[in-house]
Amino acid sequence: MLLNASGCLDALTAPDVARSLDAFVTKTVTPLPREGNAPTRIAETEVGMLNSIGLANPGIDRFVTRNLPQLGKLGVPVWVSVGGFEADEYAEICSRLDDHAEVTTIELNVSCPNVEAPAESAAQIVGAARLATRKPLWAKLSPAVPDVGEVAKAAQAAGADGLSLVNTLRGLKLDGRTLRPVLGPGQGGLSGPALKPIALAAVASCYRATEMPIVGMGGIQTGLDALEFVAAGAQHVALGTVLFVDPDAPARIRMELHAAAAERGWNSYDYAYAVAHEDALSLRTT
Ligand SMILES: Cc1cc2nc3c(=O)[nH]c(=O)nc-3n(C[C@H](O)[C@H](O)[C@H](O)COP(=O)(O)O)c2cc1C
Repeated sequence: MLLNASGCLDALTAPDVARSLDAFVTKTVTPLPREGNAPTRIAETEVGMLNSIGLANPGIDRFVTRNLPQLGKLGVPVWVSVGGFEADEYAEICSRLDDHAEVTTIELNVSCPNVEAPAESAAQIVGAARLATRKPLWAKLSPAVPDVGEVAKAAQAAGADGLSLVNTLRGLKLDGRTLRPVLGPGQGGLSGPALKPIALAAVASCYRATEMPIVGMGGIQTGLDALEFVAAGAQHVALGTVLFVDPDAPARIRMELHAAAAERGWNSYDYAYAVAHEDALSLRTT
């Protein structure tokens, strides 16, 4: 499946782009409305983009009454990204979403670098959310931990059905003249090409640690990038920063992905799934 990365596409202003995906992922929704951080919130760097949006969103009440009915009419499965500051808040939002047929999957954003980190661990949040909903739960993890495979194992044990990998990494851009931070809050989340090798490593580690289904993301710009994520162990891939420069990226990347698979003699990119691990697997079985 080809998805968008949370926060990188507004389906209500660009419904055709959303329809060109296999599922639409919302921006992270929190219990209360959030204005987000002070401007400037976006800056380009030599290797990608920095953002400090700070989870600006209408809050769960307005999301459920206003946004969700419209998203349900898109004709594309809707994944809702959920955020909070405590495990109870995640659980509350999950239970609010549980009865809404429009929601196919919940992605737990336990990894936003632009807000204070939740006090609880990813596993505690997944565990609380698991008790609150029957919907499939995907945990979105940060690569900024010593061993993301261990975090993935803990999330799996707590009841996660899948993993979204990865969120942005914290970065800083200084103004070349004043040498002051360009972004309002100072630091922001780095996305785009610089993230790709880090994201691939996280996907490979979590695949080896859990063999859970994974949505891979981080710097995907071409079909070959996407195929690399599949080879590292992602069943699905998501497009983030690339959508800001190329709204036609979903159709283009789909074509390139099939072409890259065909060049290798495969009639589906599924054949690439986890091939990066073949040596490791044969080492394990011999
Ligand atoms: C402007 C912007 C806003 C984002 N907002 C969210 C968000 O609300 N929730 C979330 O889980 N990730 C958010 N992300 C992170 C993306 O979903 C994705 O994990 C990250 O950008 C890496 O993918 P990319 O390099 O293809 O952009 C945001 C990223 C950007 C650039």
